[in-house]
Amino acid sequence: MTAIRPVRKAVFPVAGLGTRFLPASKSVPKEMLTVVDMPVIQYAVNEAKAAGIEHFIFVTGRNKHVIEDHFDLQPELQNTLADRGKQDMLDVLATHQPEAGATSFTRQQAPLGLGHAVWCARDIVGDEPFALLLPDMVMKSRDGRECMESMMNVYRTSGGNVIGVQECHPDEVSSYGIVEQGETVAGGFRIDGMVEKPSKEDAPSNLYINGRYILQPEIFDLLENQERGAGGEIQLTDSMLRLADSQDFFGNIFTGETYDCGSKEGFIAANVSFALQRDDTGPAVREIIAKLMG
Ligand code: UTP
Repeated sequence: MTAIRPVRKAVFPVAGLGTRFLPASKSVPKEMLTVVDMPVIQYAVNEAKAAGIEHFIFVTGRNKHVIEDHFDLQPELQNTLADRGKQDMLDVLATHQPEAGATSFTRQQAPLGLGHAVWCARDIVGDEPFALLLPDMVMKSRDGRECMESMMNVYRTSGGNVIGVQECHPDEVSSYGIVEQGETVAGGFRIDGMVEKPSKEDAPSNLYINGRYILQPEIFDLLENQERGAGGEIQLTDSMLRLADSQDFFGNIFTGETYDCGSKEGFIAANVSFALQRDDTGPAVREIIAKLMG
């Protein structure tokens, strides 16, 4: 049996056009829109960090340089906060600051699809397994254990490729990639099949792929010659299906909540949900909502 190699790097594809958020996303990347007071991208980076990730790779595009600035120091701001004795704010900034040298940025050049964006990270990832987090999907755990952290736990015993999944309403299967559940393994199950946007009748389960992956580097060779699929884009799922011919795939069910912040409704729901949960905003927001609801 081959040794299970550790996962040290995470890829964040952030080169999409975000057309559903126009006009906001014309000059502000949708990943920088805030859920309460933190940019959407920061939730995914924090989740990866909690799972033990050491290096953060961003696949960006034009107009996305502000993401790079967000993860850099801001000496003028920090000096001003220090002069004003705002240690609490300095601590907040420090908590979300990656170490020097722990980030890499590459450009996709043209938004040819998620699969193409992942392929653009091939040289920075190199020949090792990696985590992939779609930052649009903002996750809120119920038990304090983040989605990627529980996937890592499965990976440490199963190896192979691990995909985060969760239940959706059977009427919604046609909007997602759906997996077929095989035998149980520690913390998860073997994936016996994957199908993109099946009809309710043909869906093998109601477990949808939620935007979190641990993948082996062989995916890059497949992405390299992947033909364009749905929507004329290079689809990650198409290459994963080919990889599944020669490698194991496992699923880990996330029982928390996932908000699709790439859609307006999901983004608003995330804001309400996180604002209600937090001690500093919860009571006031609860009152506002009660008032609005009459
Ligand atoms: P989406 O399809 O949800 O993002 O891709 P989009 O294309 O930006 O959004 P809309 O539909 O126009 O509103 C899911 C993730 O994949 C990234 C996106 O940035 C997002 O994080 N992505 C998508 C890329 O990095 N490159 C692409 O070519 C496509």
